[in-house]
Amino acid sequence: MCGIVAYIGPREAYPIVLKGLKRLEYRGYDSSGVALLNGGLKVYKKKGKVAELEESLIGKDLHSNIGIGHTRWATHGEPSDRNAHPHMSANGKIAMIHNGIIENYAQLKQELQKKGYQFKSDTDTEVLLNFIQDIQENNNCGLEEAIRIALRRVVGAYVIILIDQDNPDTIIAARKGSPLVIGVGKGEHFLASDASPIIEYTKEVVYVNDYELAILKADEMILKNLGNEKITPYIQKLDLELAAIEKGGYDHFMIKEIFEQPHTIHDCLRGRLDATTGTITMSGVQNYIEQLKNAPRILIIACGTSWHAGLVAEYVIEELCRIPVEVEYASEFRYRNPIVNKGDVIIAISQSGETADTLVAIEKAKEQGAIIFGILNVVGSSIARASHSGAYTHAGPEIGVASTKAFTAQLAVLTMVALKIAHYKGTISNERYMHLLSEMNEIPEKVATALKDTDNIKRIAEKYKDAKDFLYLGRGYNFPIALEGALKLKEISYIHAEGYPAAEMKHGPIALVDENLPVVFVATKDSYYEKIVSNIQEIKARKGKVIAVISESDEVIRDLADDIIVVPEADEIVAPMLSVIPLQLLSYYVGVAKDLDVDKPRNLAKSVTVE
Ligand code: G6P
Repeated sequence: MCGIVAYIGPREAYPIVLKGLKRLEYRGYDSSGVALLNGGLKVYKKKGKVAELEESLIGKDLHSNIGIGHTRWATHGEPSDRNAHPHMSANGKIAMIHNGIIENYAQLKQELQKKGYQFKSDTDTEVLLNFIQDIQENNNCGLEEAIRIALRRVVGAYVIILIDQDNPDTIIAARKGSPLVIGVGKGEHFLASDASPIIEYTKEVVYVNDYELAILKADEMILKNLGNEKITPYIQKLDLELAAIEKGGYDHFMIKEIFEQPHTIHDCLRGRLDATTGTITMSGVQNYIEQLKNAPRILIIACGTSWHAGLVAEYVIEELCRIPVEVEYASEFRYRNPIVNKGDVIIAISQSGETADTLVAIEKAKEQGAIIFGILNVVGSSIARASHSGAYTHAGPEIGVASTKAFTAQLAVLTMVALKIAHYKGTISNERYMHLLSEMNEIPEKVATALKDTDNIKRIAEKYKDAKDFLYLGRGYNFPIALEGALKLKEISYIHAEGYPAAEMKHGPIALVDENLPVVFVATKDSYYEKIVSNIQEIKARKGKVIAVISESDEVIRDLADDIIVVPEADEIVAPMLSVIPLQLLSYYVGVAKDLDVDKPRNLAKSVTVE
């Protein structure tokens, strides 16, 4: 949530910061701004997307070899020019950008107001900045020391980056809870929320940890903790190519990422699953196999689309491993008084690895003695570092705000984890195990086949794009896919959509059914098939319009439904990886048909680093 970027070195800072902001726009895009040192501190900010800031700055003298930039997802104060970052200290000397939330800002603000401080914005960021200025003046100390003192009083999550007109050769940054990466160049440094603005310039990076301060000059990097002790930076090599974060000829990142899925699922299986020898190589699982096998209970914690992957995993793990599974919204889990027993395993699922609720929830469970197993896409992310063990999804950077390829990769990893535990535990026959391995192996190719139905799905999108509501129904393994389909449509097209277990529909949603309601059935051939055919009849009897995702061999629903989308046949355990594909495409094409910005849907952000 919120993207931050900074540069110090011999090059012009503005173009680097601006390009970085464009790459980070998926994190928030309601306003943006930059601060430069050009004969004094200059701050430029604007409500709206980064392109609007760029346009407003055409023709300005933006020369500076140091710069910070921010793209915002509003928390404190509506999106507006004055609430946009960077903020300037009351004395006009320091500019600061912030990602996160200062929870005790109201108290700090009152203290400062009593001292006569006035605020130009409604943000918690300006409060923290003036608090820092106040400490600097009262203690007659340098900015670095003042930041350290201030942060010891701050409650909340933050990454902050500051530049000071009295120290024009230094950037200071600090982190707790929100992500921060330093790019180490030759005589230059870059800072950003993730590596995407950096890889163009250098592959050497340092991930800053919580409670650390970075003091950067063009040719010097010092890391310290809040106690002013130096820390040796751990420089890592990025395993990321520039092409992976560009659109590569597609109109949107979302459609590019949908079409990448045959490759991303293949990458996820590669080197791990060998269907010929019957092996699944996952060191993260192997190292904890006894704990996983003997777990009295598995708790899955996640948010959004990752939570839907968790629901599929609940069905798969219980079926294959015979271990009780509970799936929790991270935001609910962290605030109640959950029961975590010795030996319980927590599976945390997160694309970004930075979702604040998930991070805090697993820390809470860890304190209670649980083993944390992370299923994450971003290597080195906060949740990855907070986990005891885990498995990466290897889906590559996901930039479209609505998650697509990360979801199918999560399903692939979760299914492999379940299969490995079940095989070790002996809760699955060898024959079924070998069959499911070969079914998994065929998924990338089958996804490629499912992606060929684009014209049909475009036609369906056009046909129903003006509907006010949609209902998505599924049973068993396809019930979470119905939820995911509804979520995708809401996110991308702003059409109200509800996902429900198909049988439960009789206890409420059926009242909504009339000739104007499109009902999407996820009805591939599985053990619930006969039952779902009856549910389709129930909708048809009430004149609802049925759009059905069916298997190739289906002869019954084919004749019942108003519109059909066919996916290849697959075992029900792996089928969700296929049945979700048309639903992703449907939401994309409805969004496009409505001329909406599908990569940056309103009010959403890719990485939710606030609670
Ligand atoms: C946001 C994103 C979703 C994502 C969810 C959880 O809401 O827009 O696409 O599913 O966060 O994110 P995570 O990174 O933890 O999977």
